[in-house]
Amino acid sequence: MVCLGNICRSPLAEGILKSKVNSNEVLVDSAGTAAYHVGNLPDPRSIETGLTYGIDIRNQRARAFSQSDFDNFDLIYAMDRSNYKNIINLARNAEDIAKVSLILNEIDSTVDREVPDPYYGGTSGFENVYQLLDAACERIAVRILN
Ligand code: 4NP
Repeated sequence: MVCLGNICRSPLAEGILKSKVNSNEVLVDSAGTAAYHVGNLPDPRSIETGLTYGIDIRNQRARAFSQSDFDNFDLIYAMDRSNYKNIINLARNAEDIAKVSLILNEIDSTVDREVPDPYYGGTSGFENVYQLLDAACERIAVRILN
């Protein structure tokens, strides 16, 4: 799960998907394409929103996406087109590129919808992000488990 800062969207995506799969079978992690917040806890608004739904992401610390993630993961989900481009710029070959997609394309792949960056907005933006990610992660969990 990849966003820009790894403090707002992708930590929620990580927490939500983890709640839907077996951690002995599926490795779920998140990262940011920028390093501004490396080592930081998720944004307090993401923590709060997650806790409302029983998802505790307080164990997470931000890290930067790196090329080794292409070796360690089969599926790489970008939250928006800018994140997608940043990830693709680090890809080494067609196999790396094939792992990357926009997360909301799991719901509808015809529109390239983005998970809006909620960082500069109010708490309702985080609720919206949660609902979008919950729907997408439900699809991803079904896909992984089948
Ligand atoms: P995220 O949100 O990419 O969902 O973690 C952001 C977090 C921080 C910044 C931008 C977006 N920032 O500019 O610091």
